[in-house]
Amino acid sequence: MKILVTGGAGFIGSAVVRQAIAAGHSVVNLDALTYSACLENVASVADSPNYAFVQADLRDRAALDKVFAEHTPEAVMHLAAESHVDRSIDGPGDFIETNILGTYNLLEATRSFWVAKDKPESFRFHHISTDEVFGSLGPTGQFTETTPYDPRSPYSASKASSDHLVRAWHHTYGLPIVLTNCSNNYGPYHFPEKLIPVIILNALAGKPLPIYGDGSNIRDWLYVEDHADALLTVLAKGRNGECYNIGGENEKTNLELVKTLCAVLDDKRSKNEGSYADQITFVADRPGHDARYAIDPTRMQTELGWRPSVTVEEGLEKTVDWYLNNADWWQPLLGRAGVGERLGTKA
Ligand SMILES: NC(=O)c1ccc[n+]([C@@H]2O[C@H](COP(=O)([O-])OP(=O)(O)OC[C@H]3O[C@@H](n4cnc5c(N)ncnc54)[C@H](O)[C@@H]3O)[C@@H](O)[C@H]2O)c1
Repeated sequence: MKILVTGGAGFIGSAVVRQAIAAGHSVVNLDALTYSACLENVASVADSPNYAFVQADLRDRAALDKVFAEHTPEAVMHLAAESHVDRSIDGPGDFIETNILGTYNLLEATRSFWVAKDKPESFRFHHISTDEVFGSLGPTGQFTETTPYDPRSPYSASKASSDHLVRAWHHTYGLPIVLTNCSNNYGPYHFPEKLIPVIILNALAGKPLPIYGDGSNIRDWLYVEDHADALLTVLAKGRNGECYNIGGENEKTNLELVKTLCAVLDDKRSKNEGSYADQITFVADRPGHDARYAIDPTRMQTELGWRPSVTVEEGLEKTVDWYLNNADWWQPLLGRAGVGERLGTKA
């Protein structure tokens, strides 16, 4: 299948691109190359005859039309987005423009291409979204595909808006879609402004390991390669118009997660004295910090037969190994704007 992947130079998009090429698909990677993008993430497939890269911005409708005309994709996997909650607190404008208006442009470009091709039923617009659209859970319960939306940050509100647009384009224009909402990802090529790489790299640099609030916020962690596998499964087997919640049933408080990472690091690269956990420092909480996310992945498991391949403990170990062995990848990224700074305080 020829797939147009948006955001394929980012963390999750690049995992999708690598797996799609390995599975024999053709991929056109459309990415604006914003601050969080790295073409090194797809260097391993860049020479494949089945791979093409186009630098284009979702906000540029004419550029999107040109990509459809030149590459004639059979499916779109839409991952390009502004993705960092803390940045959305300080500057929501980019999130509205890319995540909402950009998705609208992409839907319209897709629709006009699909109509010109006589509306093939096999076409899919796969919109990749987050569990954060469902809001914040108490100590019990899980998000299902029918949980009402209750986004609470500019990031999650912009993603929720884009989800609604995608559903509307399906119901109103008949565009064939699938939609997925996934829990927090981690793994190789994770941009070093997100919690797990920040903790690994600060630990190695002897810096404080910042924990927002008291560290009791709970997230449901999924290894990025398992997410990419789930996305390709949904693209191949998901029902037209359906949504699927993707998660690994790996809930941890932020404090537990950081302590686990410290233990893995202690084991793999021990300090001269003490544990990396001694560097843990509690800092002021993020405004509106959601207490708990948890995904019920039953539909993915029973309908599509998908399950994650690694436990969170195995995935964290692989991730630490990857960062220990790939300083050439992350070192230059530490100089990018905002990396290493406390963001998200301007509420
Ligand atoms: N990271 C997670 O834990 C997680 C969980 C669930 C869902 N998601 C969703 O998955 C998708 C990918 O997330 P990620 O963590 O890989 O993000 P990322 O920030 O690593 O990558 C985003 C990519 O989108 C590109 N991009 C941004 N604005 C663009 C624009 N206007 N036009 C074209 N390209 C643009 C960037 O250059 C970058 O390569 C997002 O839609 C996000 O909402 C992420």
